[in-house]
Amino acid sequence: MGDGTRAWILGIETSCDETAAAIVEGDRVLAESVASQDEVHRPYGGVVPELASRRHLALLGPLVRGCLRRSGLDAGMLDAVAVTRGPGLAGCLLAGVGFAKGVACGLGIPLIGVNHIEAHLFSCSLGGRAVFPAVALVVSGGHTALLLVRGWGDYRLLGRTLDDAVGEAYDKVASMMGLPFPGGPAIEERAARCPPGASVRFPRPLLASGDLQFSFSGLKTAVRYRLEGRGSGGGRPAEPDAVARGFQEAVVEVLLAKSLEAARRTRARCLMLAGGVARNGFLRGAFERGARGLGLPLLCAPERYCTDNGVMVAALAVRLFREGRRDDLALDIDPGLRLGEPGGEEGCIRPR
Ligand code: KG4
Ligand code: ZN
Repeated sequence: MGDGTRAWILGIETSCDETAAAIVEGDRVLAESVASQDEVHRPYGGVVPELASRRHLALLGPLVRGCLRRSGLDAGMLDAVAVTRGPGLAGCLLAGVGFAKGVACGLGIPLIGVNHIEAHLFSCSLGGRAVFPAVALVVSGGHTALLLVRGWGDYRLLGRTLDDAVGEAYDKVASMMGLPFPGGPAIEERAARCPPGASVRFPRPLLASGDLQFSFSGLKTAVRYRLEGRGSGGGRPAEPDAVARGFQEAVVEVLLAKSLEAARRTRARCLMLAGGVARNGFLRGAFERGARGLGLPLLCAPERYCTDNGVMVAALAVRLFREGRRDDLALDIDPGLRLGEPGGEEGCIRPR
């Protein structure tokens, strides 16, 4: 068992199509493993929930065994097991939470249920020291959330997408262009092939809406039209690299403009960026320049911890464990779990 200051925690992540586990000791990563299911879902162009949950069931045991072996710890030395309980695909969450309950029960250690969006957000703390209040943008395949972070554990949702998540839009545009799933990295690569200034100009959805909400489904349709040679563009199908670049420029401009506006309105002292799409170099570069322009530090999740992983779950759980958070074995999954909204996760909004 770790002493009072030391906590050896196993983190498990299975909310979508990544089976992941990690063991951390405080802020030190002892072992980590991510088994991507991209190959399983690629033929379908998106995640097939039942296939994903079955893969989690098959992969979790060996993955956790491997982490234990590499960490040099015996299972009996773990202080707690943490697991994503939502948001995510129900069957996938059940696989992870069921497994974690077995570990907690078998070893007689506490169970800690974690909010996936908070875990993404908290992965920024792995990139440096946070300054509060901060405005954070969490952009992934399932989420697009702009949050005011008054301190870790103290969140207010400022805006979110009204339809598709950013990563989902990347994936769908990639699929229209015949690029492999997941589409984010493929679109980024195609966009980089198009010289600046040669991109197709797309509308900037909700840029002038005056609020902090997002929408990406109309942009997706505009992309389809240009690829098919419908609408503006003289009836000729647009060149795919120019479409990829134009799509990315439109997305990034809106994400940045709203994040900077949120920072101004809330007098934030720091900007944060996390989630799978935060791996995108064009987005990171734009945020670096934007933050500099406002004189704010930018705290990004380290690239390898942007997409789903076990380290972000375990790292967040270390904080929750030290705060005394313990869940019992009746812990339920919550596929629609929110962050920073009234009626969201209990304990997420802590009055000062
Ligand atoms: O955080 P994540 O692993 O899963 C969710 O919580 O949804 O994010 C996955 C998403 C996918 O939509 C993927 O296309 C996107 O992140 N993504 C990217 C890049 N790398 C991953 N999007 C844009 N550019 C990238 N380089
Ligand atoms: Zn995620």
